[in-house]
Amino acid sequence: MPSAQDTLCSLALGVLQTGEARAKALAAREAARAWRTGVVTEIGTADLPDRPARPERPELTRPGRVKKRKITAAPEGRAALLHALAHIELNAIDLAWDILGRFARHDPPLPRAFFNDWVKVADDEARHFLLLDDRLRTLGASYGDLPAHDGLWQASMDTAHDLLARLAIVPLVLEARGLDVTPGMIVKLRAAGDDESADALQIIHDDEITHVAAGKRWFDWLCAERSQTPETVWRDLVRTHFKGLVKPPFNEKSRALAGMQPDFYAGLADPEPTTIS
Ligand SMILES: [Fe+2]
Ligand SMILES: [Fe+2]
Repeated sequence: MPSAQDTLCSLALGVLQTGEARAKALAAREAARAWRTGVVTEIGTADLPDRPARPERPELTRPGRVKKRKITAAPEGRAALLHALAHIELNAIDLAWDILGRFARHDPPLPRAFFNDWVKVADDEARHFLLLDDRLRTLGASYGDLPAHDGLWQASMDTAHDLLARLAIVPLVLEARGLDVTPGMIVKLRAAGDDESADALQIIHDDEITHVAAGKRWFDWLCAERSQTPETVWRDLVRTHFKGLVKPPFNEKSRALAGMQPDFYAGLADPEPTTIS
């Protein structure tokens, strides 16, 4: 339980060191509440691990080794989708606490609003994981049943040295990509008669708009601090740190709500449209 002796960074370390998945999500929610309600007020510092603690299962594999299943009325395909999404949310919990703790020593010091924004993101990601894990349990499955890939954590560690690079890749490429693909999943889940899972994904999608918005806001803030142009800096960082192209079709409406206009990302787009499967 967080206490007045804690700092935001000691809470971040505690979440990252919690291995069991639901326990990690619950610790994240407690930590966020402690910050929001003023139980913890100091930001502090901490040395964070390169890899957070994780449950023994799922087995982690290379990206591309995880089987895709069709979303149908049969529960297996839906459970596989929800499992993959739960895994992303578990990574997202660690990533939010990692950004809070890792960049607490940032020069120039980051405004308190930066930490408030990422505590909110961390709390949302924990809620998302719990929502999806609850849906998995209703379908007779649970997190850990299926292999999952480790690409997300690996990608984020490539940017552990530089907040601008972290923001360029995690919210502005990966979470923005989530905005593009989630509506298609929601349509398929409704067609399969699974309104509960579709509703969960809609909640997640709407929250994720605010995460991309926070990413864009702080990316622009850092660029302004350095008198640099966000579009140019983002393109350079994506080319350096992201293996692959930013892929259409884009959810222009949700991206615009997050403050990402087409002229910001069109120049990096893969000219070959890919379908959402
Ligand atoms: Fe999320
Ligand atoms: Fe997110």
